[in-house]
Amino acid sequence: MEYFDDTEFDYEGRMVDTEYTPEDTETELSLRPHSLDEYIGQEKNKEILKIYIEAVKLRGDCLDHVLLYGPPGLGKTTLSGIVANELGVNFRVTSGPAIEKQGDLAALLTNLSEGDVLFIDEIHRLSRNIEEILYPAMEDFKLDIIIGKGPAARSIHLPLPRFTLIGATTRAGQLTQPLRDRFGVLLKLELYTPSELAEIVTRSAGILGVPITEEGALEIASRSRGTPRIANRFLKRVRDYAQVMGDGEITLAVAQKALKMLDVDELGLDNTDRRMLETIIKFYDGGPVGLETLAATIGEEAITIEDVYEPYLMQIGFLSRTPRGRCATRLAYEHLGIPFRAAPAAGSQLSLDDAGN
Ligand code: ADE
Repeated sequence: MEYFDDTEFDYEGRMVDTEYTPEDTETELSLRPHSLDEYIGQEKNKEILKIYIEAVKLRGDCLDHVLLYGPPGLGKTTLSGIVANELGVNFRVTSGPAIEKQGDLAALLTNLSEGDVLFIDEIHRLSRNIEEILYPAMEDFKLDIIIGKGPAARSIHLPLPRFTLIGATTRAGQLTQPLRDRFGVLLKLELYTPSELAEIVTRSAGILGVPITEEGALEIASRSRGTPRIANRFLKRVRDYAQVMGDGEITLAVAQKALKMLDVDELGLDNTDRRMLETIIKFYDGGPVGLETLAATIGEEAITIEDVYEPYLMQIGFLSRTPRGRCATRLAYEHLGIPFRAAPAAGSQLSLDDAGN
C-alpha cells in the first residue's frame, strides 16, 4: 500500500492536546496498527467495517464512501489507513484546509487509481466551491470543472476511477446536508475505556521496547481522557522519566510521579480543565453558563471547548450541557474539593446570557 500525506501541523503544546504534534506523527506512524485485528477498541465499528470490506472483496467492488466522526485523537486516520490496507489499495491523505483551490482537488482525484481510498481529514472545513466538485466525483465518479473566466471559460468533464472517499470530522453537524447525504456509511468513534487504552499502551510499549507493568499501563490509560493519541504521548514522557529517575521500567509509582510532574491529575485533567470547571463554579455558581461566555472568561475558543475539553468532561460526568448553558456537576465539585451547591432553578436568579441580556 502506498501512503501519501499532504496535511499540515498546528501545534500549541498542551500535554493533553488531542491535536497532532509533529512528534506524535512520528510515534503514530511507528505504533499504528495495520489491520483491523491489530486495532484495539471501537468494536462495533470494526465489526461493521469487516463485513463491508469482506462483501466488497467478494464482489470485486469498490467500498461506499465512509464518514468517520467523533472527538480528535481517536484514530480516524489510523482506521482509514487500515481500511485501505485491508482492501489492498492505495491510501491518499489530505485535509479540508489543505485543499485551497478546485485544481488542488482535481489533481488529487485525477491521480487516483481504481479502488483507492482518498482520506479527507477535517472535511467540514472544505469550502463550498470545492464541495461542489466533490458531489459529482462521489456520486458518478466524474470530474466537472470550469477552467478560466468570462468568455474564455471552458467546462471540462472527465471520467474518474471508482474510489472510496473517507471523510473525517469532529463535527458531523457542520457538514452540509448534500455532502453528508453522499456518504453511504456513517461511523461514530467513541472515547476509549481505560482498559482498552491500557491494552493500547501495553502494545505501544512493546513496540518501543519499554518494560511496563499492568498497573503502570492502566495508570497511564486512566489519565489519557479516553484518547489513544494522548495515551501514546504520555507513554513516551513516562518512559523518559523512568529512564532518568528509575531503572527504565514503567511501574505504577513511576507513572504516577511522571504524570504528576506534567500537572495531569488522576483523571487526566490538566490545568485548563480544572480552570474551566472552577470558573463555572466560582464565577457562575456552577452554571448554567453559555458557551461563548465561558470561552471568553477562560480565554479559549468556543470550538476548542466543544471539541477538546467537553467530550471527556461529559463522559466522566463532570459537566452537563443544558439548553441554558454548561453546568458543573456534583462530581466536579467533589473532584476539585469545593463544597457542592446545587445550581439555582431556572429563572430564580438574575443571570447574563451569551448576548449579555
Ligand atoms: N494506536 C493508536 N490507536 C490504536 C488502536 N485503536 N489500536 C491499537 N493501537 C493503536
